Amino acid sequence: METAGGAGNVVRNKKLMLKDCIKGFPKESDLHLTIESIELKVPQGSNAVLVKVLYLSIDPYQYIRSTKIEKPGYFSSYSPGSVIASYGVGRVVESGHSDFQKGDLVWGTTGWEEYSLITEPETLFKIQRSDVPLSYYLGVLGMPGLTAYVGFYEFCAPKKGETVFISSAFGAVGQLVGQLAKLMGCYVVGSAGSPEKVDLLKNKLGFDDAFNYKEEKNLNDTLKRDSFQKNRYFTHQSYKTLAFSTSNPLGRQIYP
Ligand SMILES: NC(=O)c1ccc[n+]([C@@H]2O[C@H](COP(=O)([O-])OP(=O)(O)OC[C@H]3O[C@@H](n4cnc5c(N)ncnc54)[C@H](OP(=O)(O)O)[C@@H]3O)[C@@H](O)[C@H]2O)c1
Repeated sequence: METAGGAGNVVRNKKLMLKDCIKGFPKESDLHLTIESIELKVPQGSNAVLVKVLYLSIDPYQYIRSTKIEKPGYFSSYSPGSVIASYGVGRVVESGHSDFQKGDLVWGTTGWEEYSLITEPETLFKIQRSDVPLSYYLGVLGMPGLTAYVGFYEFCAPKKGETVFISSAFGAVGQLVGQLAKLMGCYVVGSAGSPEKVDLLKNKLGFDDAFNYKEEKNLNDTLKRDSFQKNRYFTHQSYKTLAFSTSNPLGRQIYP
């Protein structure tokens, strides 16, 4: 029975799960939607936190988790028939954990469902500032932002005036790395897969130069043209550009 909500009520809980591990390009038919009921309560004596999910992200690692991973390591496969997990933003409905109170806004690992019972609350972060759009906690203030920040300052660590090249530059991480690099006074070049993205990199995000890797005949020449003699290369996804950069003995490559 569905009710308006409030602790102790039973409400509808729509969930998305995988039917089976996927092969090849993901299809809508790989997903299964179910509607279950959930009591808005955490199990007595547990430290779980029940969250009303407000925003969900779709990130590249989810493709890997949707496939059959033979030797689970950093990632394991999603279990077919279990709700898909991803980063999300939510509001606490009830909490058995002293760090979280009803009404708190949180971000962390949630499920692709309307209500998630988080049984490992240490994976949640309390949102202290809600004067920005909450969806930012899935982007610049969340996992992609942390990846860009740590990858850039801790690992890439360029000096002012150096060239930073970013592949997949219009992706969630790449956009941020480019802007951090500009703030540091680097010469920033990005590659992306469409003219629209290239235009936005140069004219909206402040990159010094950008190119469409799909239109370049010879990437070695392209990257030489951009004075890549002493570059820091922040990369992901693009193996063609990676192949060039790893052959540059002065460069430094970062793979998030
Ligand atoms: N280790 C970590 O903790 C960590 C954390 C965050 C991200 N990452 C990794 O960093 C990379 C970028 O993450 P992101 O969040 O910035 O990704 P994103 O926003 O989804 O952007 C990915 C971009 O990759 C390009 N791309 C190239 N080949 C593709 C393909 N076959 N399918 C889809 N996109 C393709 C696309 O740009 P074009 O159209 O320009 O080619 C796409 O916009 C990913 O490999 C991710 O796994 C790692």
